[in-house]
Amino acid sequence: MTKQTILVTGGAGYIGSHAVKALQKDGYRVLVLDNLVYGHQDITQTLGAELIVGDTNDRSLLDRIFSEYDISAVMHFAAYAYVGESVTQPDKYYRNNVVGTLSLLEAMVAANVKKFVFSSTCASYGVPQQIPITEDHPQAPINPYGASKLMVERILQDFDIAYGLKSVIFRYFNAAGADPDGEIGEDHQPETHLIPLVLWAALGKRDAITVYGSDYPTEDGTCVRDYIHVTDLAEAHILGLQYLLNGNQSEIFNLGNGNGFSVQQVIDTARQLTGKTINVIKGDRRVGDPPALVGSSEKARKILNWQPKYADLELILQHAWTWHQKRHG
Ligand SMILES: NC(=O)c1ccc[n+]([C@@H]2O[C@H](COP(=O)([O-])OP(=O)(O)OC[C@H]3O[C@@H](n4cnc5c(N)ncnc54)[C@H](O)[C@@H]3O)[C@@H](O)[C@H]2O)c1
Repeated sequence: MTKQTILVTGGAGYIGSHAVKALQKDGYRVLVLDNLVYGHQDITQTLGAELIVGDTNDRSLLDRIFSEYDISAVMHFAAYAYVGESVTQPDKYYRNNVVGTLSLLEAMVAANVKKFVFSSTCASYGVPQQIPITEDHPQAPINPYGASKLMVERILQDFDIAYGLKSVIFRYFNAAGADPDGEIGEDHQPETHLIPLVLWAALGKRDAITVYGSDYPTEDGTCVRDYIHVTDLAEAHILGLQYLLNGNQSEIFNLGNGNGFSVQQVIDTARQLTGKTINVIKGDRRVGDPPALVGSSEKARKILNWQPKYADLELILQHAWTWHQKRHG
């Protein structure tokens, strides 16, 4: 028996497409809405997912979607997510990430669809005061991207009070890895994330990888980050969705690995795994880069019974390597 229909915005993107695959596997009917600015049509084709090419800022399209399909809940991945660009073009980020989301939420309320799973970010915390970061850590984002996500979090609280719209907010740390079946994976253009850049250097798609800062107060002097496997993220979304469909209250969860890995560790593990030369350029520290960012996901483990399967760095890199060789090799 087919379960409910779920609208997945940004489902042609990296994390969204892995959630689409997990939803389909669980028997949900999936409808993807993506403007394809950063998404990939061939990925939705691979998954056999129904795709509507369109934008969350297009209110009349949203109204049509909600009237034509019997949608039970929305998973909202659609956003722009380049931190540096958000500093130079804040308007682009506030319009897409805040105004676009508001338009989606208004269309949902008008259509009486009141379950929402939202992709927030650890960037909403800003510079951590303590590690691991728990959900009650103060939120003080240091760039417009993080601020745009925090604004949506606030809007969601207000929509719950005013309209009874229930949400699960997931604050992800660094999404990494690829589908263990090798079907789909990460393909950001431009790419700014460490793991794909390291693997592109291994593939010879770039000459070297720049390490920004090697004098941080960490074990090997390079920054420590929390890498969470994208399939574990997708699984958390299924659990978050079920939690809402079961009639529970709105909730906020971190999604991270709980273990930090340094930039140097990532490079060393990638060298071992691929057997390739990975040239490194030593760069200066970047402004706003904290030495370590590691999240506590105890709450998601406890309340959602989330059990990440691929927390091991080698496994994360292995799945990513299989994908990048196929996509870019
Ligand atoms: N990648 C990470 O490590 C990470 C970490 C924390 C939070 N997030 C959040 O997770 C979500 C997904 O990230 P991702 O890495 O998969 O990014 P992505 O760019 O691969 O996916 C986002 C998708 O949304 C689409 N999109 C953007 N704006 C849209 C709009 N207005 N209407 C319709 N489609 C639109 C893009 O075309 C793209 O396919 C984002 O909201 C991002 O902010 C990502």
